[in-house]
Order: sequence, then structure tokens, then C-alpha cells
Amino acid sequence: MPGLLLGDEIPNFEADTTIGRIKFHDFLGNSWGILFSHPRDFTPVCTTELACAAKISNEFKKRGVKMIALSIDSVADHNSWSKDVMAVSKKADTDLPFPIIADDKRELSVLLGMLDPDEKDKDGMPLTARCVFVIGPDKKLKLSILYPATTGRNFDELLRVIDSLQLTAQKKVATPVDWKPGDKVMVIPSLSDAEAASLFPNGVTTEEVPSGKKYLRYTQI
Ligand code: BEZ
Repeated sequence: MPGLLLGDEIPNFEADTTIGRIKFHDFLGNSWGILFSHPRDFTPVCTTELACAAKISNEFKKRGVKMIALSIDSVADHNSWSKDVMAVSKKADTDLPFPIIADDKRELSVLLGMLDPDEKDKDGMPLTARCVFVIGPDKKLKLSILYPATTGRNFDELLRVIDSLQLTAQKKVATPVDWKPGDKVMVIPSLSDAEAASLFPNGVTTEEVPSGKKYLRYTQI
């Protein structure tokens, strides 16, 4: 099944959206981007996800990340559904702060490997899974996650991984389990101790482990 791998360039597809026809690379410009797919309009889990995404859209904006959703219905359906989403988001008087791609022919979902063969509509056609792509300013795929239709995503976790992606794109560090901005980060294994000492003026601490190997190296950025 076609799909995207980390490091692949995101296709410069054209699509109809709630803000008109777009070419994806032009939409992204030089920004980071996040594309998240939904099984269907007017479905319960999708509505809670989009309402959450709308509520915290300023957090994506602060990080310079352009948001765009995708669902396999028409622009007219998306526009009508958006009103429900904003009501659930408790901002009924405001427009959805990001566009939704209309993929009613499922062409993009096939191209991007987003379909879930186990989840079908009443006509037996597969629905889109809950796919997330985070795209860097170089248009390359930096993160991909794929949840089934029955499990909603955690958008705070998406902000957390974007913080990690943006930090690790700039510095030779990696972020450990449950890392949050401000926590210590880890020195990547390819750096020698001498290189680490010169790169990280706040110092590097090493956690002792039974093997005696000195690979758990932390620093504060
Ligand atoms: C939902 O968004 O609630 C949903 C959509 C398709 C299958 C299951 C749940």
C-alpha cells in the first residue's frame, strides 16, 4: 500500500479545502505543518478531536506550525460540520481556525496511505484512519502516527512531539521519555564526550548503569 516514510518529501498535491483549492507546498510555505486525517465528518470521536485542535490552535501557531485536517467528505459537509466542531469547542461564533481537505474520492487517502481496511462505511468502502503527519520546513516528513478510527488522539502529545522535533532539528540532542520543554535532554550517541563538552556549556552529566557503559548522558539546554 502506498504511504510515506520518515524523510520522504510530502507530495505537492492539489486539493479542494474549506479555504479553496490549494497546492500543498504553497499552503505550507516555509513553515512546519501538521496534517491530520479523520474517518468521516459528523462522527463523535472526530468531532472531539477537531474541537480540541481548534481550542489549542494558538499553541500550534506559536510554534509556527500550519494546521490542516482531512476527511473523506465534501467541502459542503466540512463547512457544515465545522459549525458543530466550533460549538463543541465552546466558540460557536468563531470559524474553525484551520482548513479541512475534502477527499471525497479518497484519492489523497490512498496516495498518503491513510485508509483503514478494517473500518468501513455503510457501502463497504474503507474509512480514513487517524493519521498524523508532521512536516518540516524542508517539506520532509518528520513524524508519522497512525491510530485506528476507534481511538482518538491526544493533541497535547502532538504539541509535545513538535517541541521535541523543533529542538532536535536545531541541537544535537534527543529527548527522553515524557520529556517536556525545560527538562534535561540527552546527548546523542554519535557525539564523543569531547564534542559534547564543547557543545553544551551547561555541562554533561552521566548516569551510572551496571554495564559501566557511559551512554546515559544528560544536559540542560
Ligand atoms: C468516530 O469518529 O467517532 C468514529 C468514526 C469511525 C469509526 C468509529 C468512530
